Amino acid sequence: MSLGAFPPPPLPVLELEGIRFSWPGAGVALQGCDLLIPGPGLWMLVGRNGSGKSSLLKLIAGLVEPEAGTIRRRARCAMVFQNPDHQLLLPSCGSELLLSIDPSLNQQERETCLQSALAQVGLAGLAERPIHSLSGGQKQRLAIAASLARQSALLLLDEPTALLDPESQREVLALIRGLTHQPTQPLTALWITHRLEELQQCDGAALMQDGRVGPWQPGAALAASLHNA
Ligand SMILES: Nc1ncnc2c1ncn2[C@@H]1O[C@H](COP(=O)(O)OP(=O)(O)OP(=O)(O)O)[C@@H](O)[C@H]1O
Ligand SMILES: [Mg+2]
Repeated sequence: MSLGAFPPPPLPVLELEGIRFSWPGAGVALQGCDLLIPGPGLWMLVGRNGSGKSSLLKLIAGLVEPEAGTIRRRARCAMVFQNPDHQLLLPSCGSELLLSIDPSLNQQERETCLQSALAQVGLAGLAERPIHSLSGGQKQRLAIAASLARQSALLLLDEPTALLDPESQREVLALIRGLTHQPTQPLTALWITHRLEELQQCDGAALMQDGRVGPWQPGAALAASLHNA
């Protein structure tokens, strides 16, 4: 059989090469930073305060531009921040999601997209609920639903469980784990955390130090090496 019978391997979801970035008036945040996310799954980054994790996510999301280097994105990106109150803008769950849904869809399609996004995050039936009445974990799941409503396949999550109680932490992590391992159209998630126990759930973990990302390794192995450090 000729090699031509095999389909070519899929291209990586995300590739960063030689990224350099500084915040105005501050020192260099990222320098010679490479990152490759090979495919769907739950990928985690850890690193000390100031090592450049949030700066990296903002570059990937396109919120800021690198001074040097290349970013290749092969999926639509959406950010999920530590504090959902910083990204939820409207009074009700439904109106918040409508803000993210492609306005060129007809009303029936928009409604289907809205209900599907709510159901996928375990908030079915809450379209009319005022956002201020949601728990912190529910708000974070609504922020994730907004990413789904936007048809984003690459979720960038910056310490999404940092402000949540332990039960909500587990729910949000299980939700993202499920979305990144669903049988059809699994998503890709890049998840920043300081909670080493979360590394047990990922498909690969990397340590960020001084503006560079280290190699992918099993989450349990990285957690153990950081515990012992
Ligand atoms: N908006 C900004 N303006 C100026 N400097 C910034 C800004 N955001 C980050 N920095 C600086 O860039 C460097 C990297 O910060 P960054 O927030 O990316 O780190 P981090 O790894 O996310 O840290 P943490 O774990 O505390 O969230 C730090 O020196 C920080 O002070
Ligand atoms: Mg940060």
